[in-house]
Amino acid sequence: MSVNVDIDQLNNELATASPKDIIRKALSMFDNIAISFSGAEDVVLIEMATKINRQVSVFTLDTGRLHPETYLFVEKVRDHYDLNLEVLFPDAAAIEKLTREKGLFSFYRDGHSECCGIRKVEPLKRKLAQVDAWITGQRKDQSPGTRNDVPIVQLDGTFGSEEKPLIKFNPLANWTSEDVWNYIRMFDVPYNELHSKGFISIGCQPCTRPVLPNQHEREGRWWWEEETHKECGLHAGNLIKTEQAD
Ligand code: ADX
Ligand code: SF4
Repeated sequence: MSVNVDIDQLNNELATASPKDIIRKALSMFDNIAISFSGAEDVVLIEMATKINRQVSVFTLDTGRLHPETYLFVEKVRDHYDLNLEVLFPDAAAIEKLTREKGLFSFYRDGHSECCGIRKVEPLKRKLAQVDAWITGQRKDQSPGTRNDVPIVQLDGTFGSEEKPLIKFNPLANWTSEDVWNYIRMFDVPYNELHSKGFISIGCQPCTRPVLPNQHEREGRWWWEEETHKECGLHAGNLIKTEQAD
């Protein structure tokens, strides 16, 4: 069921709401809604959402290049919450074409957008065509270069359209990394073992590395590229805003 949404009014209403109340509101507005789970600390979304509705739909994009720890963690989360979890895969022919033409590490030479486009964006696009709204773990503090303005709720202009509007909820937008980790410890939420090995932000194995003390978490992602380009296309709207501001 789709709903007519006044985004400004909803942002005002939710401005001081807790992430759990934002999720509660999102789930009450949309039946056809799913949480996008990266296999990292956005597990807090699942902890909160399953307390509201045990049947909540969750999906993860298996790029084929995740760390072994992330695969184990995704499965642990599925078991722990008895989760309705969908694992999405890239189109085999597109990956075979890319690797035949450019090998397995083309992103170090050509930038990450081609590989991310095939391994993440296209599967996400397929999934989002089936829902009216989605919930992400994006936070403002994750990336000074691109996420400073992430709102609690927005019209997704990347994957939605006028004919088929798509609403995107970012319940953790105003939370800091510290808030997330306090919550994980307080509620004994399971977490990815990579966090114990110095990783903060976690993506694909070849494109993620641990950070040093006082480095920003985003410096561990696509470290060979410019700060302001560090979006893989899942949240491309963030880049458009950054480019407009330049
Ligand atoms: S990314 O765009 O740079 O890869 P990031 O790792 O910061 O994103 O995660 C932000 C949010 O994007 C996550 O909380 C999650 O909602 C979504 N996301 C990122 N990677 C994935 C993935 N592999 N599968 C599903 N959702 C993802
Ligand atoms: Fe490919 Fe790296 Fe993007 Fe993963 S993060 S899809 S390996 S470019």
